[in-house]
Amino acid sequence: MEGQMMVVFSLCLIGMWGTSEAVTGIFDCDSNGYQYKSCCTGVRGISASVMTKRSRSSCDAGYSFAVNGCSLWVNHGCRARFYVNFNCRNVKTSNADCSSRNYKYAECPVGGVITSINVAKKHSRSSCDFNKSFGFLANKIWVDDGCRATFTVQYCADRKCSC
Ligand SMILES: *[C@@H]1O[C@H](CO)[C@@H](O)[C@H](O)[C@H]1NC(C)=O
Repeated sequence: MEGQMMVVFSLCLIGMWGTSEAVTGIFDCDSNGYQYKSCCTGVRGISASVMTKRSRSSCDAGYSFAVNGCSLWVNHGCRARFYVNFNCRNVKTSNADCSSRNYKYAECPVGGVITSINVAKKHSRSSCDFNKSFGFLANKIWVDDGCRATFTVQYCADRKCSC
């Protein structure tokens, strides 16, 4: 009886805390007019760093940006694309199509914050170059410059953290 209780208890612990994996998502957040802005990421962030700065104003960790629970905030004119590190219990892999028609920018959402991407099969004559004509942002695949393909994405299927 006690042994059974222990087994049930252990299974519950595994179910509740399971194994979580450290992963990284990508998010945009802009401090317009030098104002504070909070951007909901939907994941409980651990830390953030600048991927690409768009503003002339600097982006200094702790002063002009930081993660706070399910959000990323910016201030003092920092406008950038950020890497946000977070833990995910339920990392999933699936395939999704995304097409840049008439060489236009397009976005294709998937079921959670994307953490990595690969081209499974290219359908266009135009090339699909990571960071140049395709990539990912939050829960979306993006394509540009005529890249059309089936992508394999890894994303976090955990329940969305509300903000
Ligand atoms: C993609 O762009 C980011 C930001 O410019 C850079 O840090 C990263 O190394 C690039 N990755 C590749 C594979 O080019």
